[in-house]
Amino acid sequence: MIEDFFSPLISEFQITYRYKVHFTKDIFQIDNPVLRNFFISEKKQGLVKKVMVVLDERLIQYHPNLVSDIKNYFQDLETFLQLTGDIIQIPGGEECKNNQELWEFLVNAVNTNGVDRHSYFLVIGGGAILDLVGYVAAVSHRGIRLVRIPTTVLSQNDSGVGVKNSINYQGKKNFLGTFAPPVAVFNDLRFLESLDDRDWRSGMAEAVKVALIKDKDFFHWIESNASALLNRNLNTMANLIHRCAELHMDHISNGDPFEFGSSRPLDFGHWSAHKLEYLTQFSLRHGEAVAIGMALDTVYSYQKDFLSKDDCIRILSLLKTLGFSIYHPMLSDGEKRNLYLGLEEFREHLGGQLTIVLLAEIGKSLEVHEMDLKTIDTSVNFLETYL
Ligand SMILES: NC(=O)c1ccc[n+]([C@@H]2O[C@H](COP(=O)([O-])OP(=O)(O)OC[C@H]3O[C@@H](n4cnc5c(N)ncnc54)[C@H](O)[C@@H]3O)[C@@H](O)[C@H]2O)c1
Ligand SMILES: [Zn+2]
Repeated sequence: MIEDFFSPLISEFQITYRYKVHFTKDIFQIDNPVLRNFFISEKKQGLVKKVMVVLDERLIQYHPNLVSDIKNYFQDLETFLQLTGDIIQIPGGEECKNNQELWEFLVNAVNTNGVDRHSYFLVIGGGAILDLVGYVAAVSHRGIRLVRIPTTVLSQNDSGVGVKNSINYQGKKNFLGTFAPPVAVFNDLRFLESLDDRDWRSGMAEAVKVALIKDKDFFHWIESNASALLNRNLNTMANLIHRCAELHMDHISNGDPFEFGSSRPLDFGHWSAHKLEYLTQFSLRHGEAVAIGMALDTVYSYQKDFLSKDDCIRILSLLKTLGFSIYHPMLSDGEKRNLYLGLEEFREHLGGQLTIVLLAEIGKSLEVHEMDLKTIDTSVNFLETYL
């Protein structure tokens, strides 16, 4: 008997996740069925589920009827789906991920509104609010169903279609968070019209990123459509978002969705970008920092002879044509010591061995496990003087 006690027991199981990213326009217009059909498909006989809506308050400025439109939209579904109390409006942008009180306020709202594991969070806003509410949804009752309606280019083509959520803690970005797939995502093109130019542009950095590491043709497509994108052509942006979201989702479902390995192929340009966001106290948008981070790792790849000079110049030119800066003085701050620290923080965040994604050519990445500070130094200097 005692021998049995010492033999290990094994638990092994698989869970299949499946969610759709829908593309639509004017999602809360009463005759738009796409969101309604989703909730109808989730209907359970005899069960009335709750929906807690959280809005990026900036949206109200541009869509003054949004709250009443949402309430009207859900009225028809009342027999099996009920909105909880008032629609919650909170400030968006990175600050919401730094604000512990906001996190607590939302957890408290889950509690006081009796939102259970069969209920939904419906979050509408940019990547920052999506990350915050996704985290609240994931940890409350060990997981409330999450429906995302991303409203920025970056959240529609990258952060909102993935499986991660987070808040910042003790000055460290995305320190608290989980991997928790949403149950559905709805990309509504209409919201993009009110983005300011910086946020319109910023999300394109992630498209350039995914093209650089995975899809040469997509890179060429962005090059050919750069002026339409710059001139805010909504249909061209819709195409960019669709392809970029597809590449991201493809990577998630066929790669390492919960990042068990040390490698993070989608994080090209991100090690220095995360550091730059902090060093600039978030005056840089995530995508703007990623553009600079990609420029740095592109030049580094060239200086290390991984990447050709032609490809290097082509990449820097596209970033500039799209209106991105490819250098920021904070890269050189403290004789670049702050930047070097970013490498160590990136390793800590990933855990395990340092793995940095670089470029072999446009559309093809490679991984290295160390970076040489001298070449980082010359790459930064190169960007500082690059016209
Ligand atoms: N979870 C992930 O996998 C992942 C991936 C990449 C980035 N992120 C995170 O996403 C965040 C950045 O997201 P973002 O670029 O969407 O920026 P954001 O959420 O900070 O939004 C930028 C600004 O745009 C406003 N805004 C949002 N939608 C608008 C609209 N339709 N019209 C006008 N203004 C609008 C916001 O209120 C905010 O002021 C960062 O915190 C980053 O860490 C997460
Ligand atoms: Zn990113």
